[in-house]
Amino acid sequence: MKVLGLNFGRKNGNCKLFLNAAIESAKAAGAEVEIIDTMGKEIKPCIGCGACSRLLQSGKGQIKCCQKDDYEAISDAVLAADAIIVAAPVYVLAPTGQLKNFIDRFGPAHDKAYMLFENELRKDNGGEELNPDCLKRHLVSYISVGGATTPHWVSYGIPGMNLFGMSLNMKVVDQLDAYGAYVPPIQEKLLAQSRHMGERIVEAYGLKTSEITWESDPGVCPVCHCKEMTLNGTTTVCCPICGIYGQLKVDGDQVSVEFSKEEQERSRLKFTGVLEHQVEQGRKDRYPRFDAYVEKFRAMQDEM
Ligand SMILES: Cc1cc2nc3c(=O)[nH]c(=O)nc-3n(C[C@H](O)[C@H](O)[C@H](O)COP(=O)(O)O)c2cc1C
Repeated sequence: MKVLGLNFGRKNGNCKLFLNAAIESAKAAGAEVEIIDTMGKEIKPCIGCGACSRLLQSGKGQIKCCQKDDYEAISDAVLAADAIIVAAPVYVLAPTGQLKNFIDRFGPAHDKAYMLFENELRKDNGGEELNPDCLKRHLVSYISVGGATTPHWVSYGIPGMNLFGMSLNMKVVDQLDAYGAYVPPIQEKLLAQSRHMGERIVEAYGLKTSEITWESDPGVCPVCHCKEMTLNGTTTVCCPICGIYGQLKVDGDQVSVEFSKEEQERSRLKFTGVLEHQVEQGRKDRYPRFDAYVEKFRAMQDEM
């Protein structure tokens, strides 16, 4: 099993400290490990040309970005890994722009369901199959690092990091909201949590997706475990990460949100959700064997 550590902080900063702890314990648990420091690497912003998606749809060749910089090597390392631990600093309440640049470039062409459909079409048409690394399950854990000692100064850290695994439909194993990172006793606790994260991701690799349990902060949304909700003036609220709707319940001074099982399955973080999105789009003109593809992919959900 290959575990990749992706560091978006300084080469010797807090992100690297926690990431090293996580990666070392993944190694001790038997994983082959690598760390990439992205600071100082060139990851230009996406220019929206759509060339990556056109390559995917061309039926031949692999998905590539037309811009020449360090992005492609990092993207290849992400695809080759079985699990990724990403650490990113909070800059002005949210993860650094370098991380968002990567997410945007990786973005739509690596949509898991889209790639699966295109790959089946390629097989049916005798075309070149996609790199199998694009189609396998990837696990991910997030470490969001902030210097502030209060959570309201890192508000978009963890929610922003959840965008990283979205297009490839990575299965999130853990997330650590590591604020107060410069305070020695807090740092000790965060280091212990990071070590545990490294062990957990190796353990999760041996499990079916439905067997992976959640041990981090449960949050409010039962799928992404983030705490942010979009209100529209009614008791129906929306998780902005998952795009699913729940019912606000108030009991005295206790507030919770209930999400039905059906809504949870619709989350864009779940394989069932991204598959349903393709079904909603119903692109039978492009995929003559659309229903057979859907049936095949539905049977695969516990391996994705
Ligand atoms: C431009 C900038 C903005 C920052 N904004 C925040 C912030 O909004 N909230 C916070 O908790 N820390 C903030 N920090 C502190 C960093 O998150 C903190 O120093 C962290 O350790 C940086 O990661 P690194 O040590 O791995 O480089 C900011 C730092 C910089 C340089």
